[in-house]
Amino acid sequence: MIIRVLGSGAGGGFPQWNCNCNNCSGVRNQTIKATPRTQSSIAISNDGEHWVLFNASPDIRAQIEAFPGIQPHHGVRDTGISAVVLCDGQIDHTTGLLILRESPKPLEIYCTRMVRDDLESGFPIFNMLGHFCGINHHEIPFDGSAFTIPGIDDLCFYTHALKSKAPPYSPHRENPHAGDNIGILVKQISTGKTLYYSPGLGEIEPQVETAMTNADCILVDGTFWTDSEMIDAGVSKKTARSIGHLPQSGSGGMIEVMDALEKPRKVLIHINNTNPILDEQSEQRNILTQHGIEVAFDGLEIEL
Ligand code: MLT
Ligand code: MN
Ligand code: ZN
Repeated sequence: MIIRVLGSGAGGGFPQWNCNCNNCSGVRNQTIKATPRTQSSIAISNDGEHWVLFNASPDIRAQIEAFPGIQPHHGVRDTGISAVVLCDGQIDHTTGLLILRESPKPLEIYCTRMVRDDLESGFPIFNMLGHFCGINHHEIPFDGSAFTIPGIDDLCFYTHALKSKAPPYSPHRENPHAGDNIGILVKQISTGKTLYYSPGLGEIEPQVETAMTNADCILVDGTFWTDSEMIDAGVSKKTARSIGHLPQSGSGGMIEVMDALEKPRKVLIHINNTNPILDEQSEQRNILTQHGIEVAFDGLEIEL
């Protein structure tokens, strides 16, 4: 299977429009060695022609233009995007659906019942799309069981609930429900190869540990280096954990979790603009390299 990173940044992207933090000003003024990143999304295909999008970023238009694989190839209106799977109902993972409104047929959207509820109420983009192309919602499980997508014959998707956070406009924000956030194991049936994808991961529960241990590649939450990162940067009063993201450093952090894994290629994704690992010459980035951990960038392609 081919995995293409369309956007490796967290909500806001890098640089963020109104941010003057060390990283954002550094990448704008080229005073640090860093690369801009669009907001969180990947595409997966087993034939290079039919792609499943995982999350639809507000930057999707630029992401499509940057990747010929999902551009129109046949006839006057076409797309390489066969379906969209949503990991949650957050703005950075769903707003791109509005940008796809010119589709001549309904968008094929795979998400849990919880995410569908939020996208029909607090952030009613499913209702809005009803006035354009419409959507076909396919309800997906969150108990670890599998689903398939018509036309994507060689891939199978196993989805499980995660402890993270529903969006601020969800009635579940402070009252988590299973299915607000999911992790996905993608398996190519013909080769047995697997990818574990989880851009928002607040806690390493047993089902997450099992998936990470057995996968050939993991593409997981790289949002923050420390729990207090946004507070320290003076940009927010929220900790990483309070918004559902496990920081990389420290006891029980993502580096420690990844150190225990022998099999997978380890890649961080959904990097927030405050994270010092964005600076390729930082001490923190060097630590990741020493631990054999990669940082995803826009355009990264992984073949399994
Ligand atoms: C998150 O991942 O916590 C959210 O996407 C943050 C945001 O977009 O505001
Ligand atoms: Mn996000
Ligand atoms: Zn910033």
